[in-house]
Amino acid sequence: MHFYLEPGGKLSGSIRVPGDKSMSHRSIMLGSIAEGRTAVSGFLEGDDALATLAAFRAMGVGITDPDNGSLTIDGVGLRGLKAPADVMDVGNSGTSIRLMAGLLSGQAFDSIITGDNSLLRRPMARVITPLSQMGALISSREGCPPLEIRGGRPLTGFHYDLPVASAQVKSSVLLAGLYASGRTSVTEPAPTRDHTERMLTGFGYPVEVADGVISLEGGGRLIGTDIDIPADISSAAFFLVGASIAEGSDLVLEHVGINPTRDGVIRILRAMGADIETMNERLVGGEPVADLRVRSAPLRGIHIPVEEVPLAIDELPAVLIAAACAEGVTVLSGAEELRVKESDRIASMAEGLSQLGIYNTVQPDGIEVRGGEISGGVIATHHDHRIAMSFSMAALRASDRIKISDCSHVATSFPGFAALASGVGLQLEVADD
Ligand code: S3P
Repeated sequence: MHFYLEPGGKLSGSIRVPGDKSMSHRSIMLGSIAEGRTAVSGFLEGDDALATLAAFRAMGVGITDPDNGSLTIDGVGLRGLKAPADVMDVGNSGTSIRLMAGLLSGQAFDSIITGDNSLLRRPMARVITPLSQMGALISSREGCPPLEIRGGRPLTGFHYDLPVASAQVKSSVLLAGLYASGRTSVTEPAPTRDHTERMLTGFGYPVEVADGVISLEGGGRLIGTDIDIPADISSAAFFLVGASIAEGSDLVLEHVGINPTRDGVIRILRAMGADIETMNERLVGGEPVADLRVRSAPLRGIHIPVEEVPLAIDELPAVLIAAACAEGVTVLSGAEELRVKESDRIASMAEGLSQLGIYNTVQPDGIEVRGGEISGGVIATHHDHRIAMSFSMAALRASDRIKISDCSHVATSFPGFAALASGVGLQLEVADD
């Protein structure tokens, strides 16, 4: 499935992009091990979150089919999961496998998690190392999935000083910590998204955050609750960029999660000159939410502050499209983590930008992009949803047609992207050849 984009146009109107992917995964995981019923609204019905849902159903949890983002989970309690009959396949989803590795390390049964060709190449040593130190026994294929997790292993709480700024690793250790004796604590080299900590608290599980140390005691209880998941800022980011670069745009993105560990993209785009207004700020279920109004504005190249990198990690491909449309050079550094996402996002973006005539130079930990005239061309997504959607927005400033090959993975995080984007002005058609 390919995207064909006509050049030019502008974005206008008011839309709500689908629910937050990180929170959707966590709502299923924590709702499943809670006691009693959890009602979720705003759930992302994308392939990744649905893979987590299927895995917990396979472990005996009653979860209703999502209906317009609403579902209920009949939690089985911390010790109530059952051995799955089969290998659990979580497709493209790194969040599923890494967080589940922690949670499954504490179960009485053995389990195996696998995924698609992209997931089979992604590094898992980053979770296997700390979980093994807690007493888990996990085998992998040279540090990559499938993961075979041995059950019935007693886990012991410990302190882990994370070597990489990764919310997935932090969350994996904290989820194992629920099953460990004593206290489990982590420190991070830089703050990362804190949805696990916030949501555990929402389920009545005490999590302490003091002086940069996040800790919890094992063996407590989670109590079923209601969770209202806001729109995903990572999906909103494509539109923040699109409306910024396309002259005459005026677009409102409704009910977007603006958790301060996720909103780096807003600060980065504003530093580039973007006109983004935060309206109706409110707290929804312990998470800050706002409507974002974005109008086109001339952008300038900047050095992206390194401390913003973990706070905008999934939005950096879209930011590089903004950089291509900015006056001068944008420098991204300290972003080596981009090389181990759904694709090597530094390489994928560099290749695509070059295809469109945008001069760039690649470093091991980043890229420099010189703003210029975007031509037409053919873009390879490398099976990466965020590469496909980022380059879709480049068409708004292109001089000719853009074809984006192989966009089927867009459904992992943003089902309905093509229709929603067309509805606000992107001239996009989907075709199979
Ligand atoms: C996620 C954390 C990030 C992010 C991913 C979702 C999460 O990964 O890229 O899309 O839900 O915890 P890392 O923690 O590996 O940086």
